[in-house]
Amino acid sequence: MSADANETQYIDIDGEAPRVDDAVLSRHSIRDYSNRPVPRETLEELFELALRAPSWKNSQPWRIYVLTGATRDRVAASLVKAARETQSSQPDFEWPAAYPADARRRMFDLGMRVYEAAGIERKDKAARDEFMLRNFNFFGAPVGVFITTTFEPNYYVALDLGCLLESIMLLARARGLATCPQAALGAFPEVVRRELALSDAERVVCGLSMGYATPDSKLNRFHSPRAPLAELLQFRE
Ligand SMILES: Cc1cc2nc3c(=O)[nH]c(=O)nc-3n(C[C@H](O)[C@H](O)[C@H](O)COP(=O)(O)O)c2cc1C
Repeated sequence: MSADANETQYIDIDGEAPRVDDAVLSRHSIRDYSNRPVPRETLEELFELALRAPSWKNSQPWRIYVLTGATRDRVAASLVKAARETQSSQPDFEWPAAYPADARRRMFDLGMRVYEAAGIERKDKAARDEFMLRNFNFFGAPVGVFITTTFEPNYYVALDLGCLLESIMLLARARGLATCPQAALGAFPEVVRRELALSDAERVVCGLSMGYATPDSKLNRFHSPRAPLAELLQFRE
């Protein structure tokens, strides 16, 4: 995707991505789903493969909960309620407060572009708040996923979990599915523990929405830019 970083890119998200390259290029965060259900066998195959993800000394510091049907709806309703009624979130793993200036610029830029693609005026706080709340309804996706860990958090556990997350997303794309990884789904871990009857030892890392993208949605076709290669990569010979 050769892209001028200043120009907003839109791509088609229909169809499968059978090659890894296709999956990497066409995976992006989807925030508008059709209610078409995902076959159980597809999910079973996908997660069995995703669990091949590498981890520090094969420690496999994860558990995965795949929510569909009534459970998905119940958890979404409880999370939306918590988000509406609670002033501040209390994630198990504190969200980062400080970022370097260039990252802050990218984050601001992303926000502008996502709101534009969603047809939301940047100044319209009420519309932005409603959009934020859609996180908790899995953006309408029929499948909600939570990733938890009982491990003491450290940098390497986080790397392991990142490997798993990307594997899930790419395997989903290979099957014509879309995803959105969401820290927001870890904002109210007490709700997730209560609804899924998890022990206090299980900490909610993040969640994902998964399903089939609404094809004609401008929001879905939005393809986020990346910093120019030369800024982030150097060959040394
Ligand atoms: C760990 C992690 C947490 C994220 N949390 C959220 C979230 O809560 N809500 C959301 O809409 N997107 C979330 N995203 C998606 C990012 O905004 C997105 O990956 C980034 O802007 C790059 O865009 P792309 O995924 O479309 O390529 C998250 C991504 C990651 C990797």
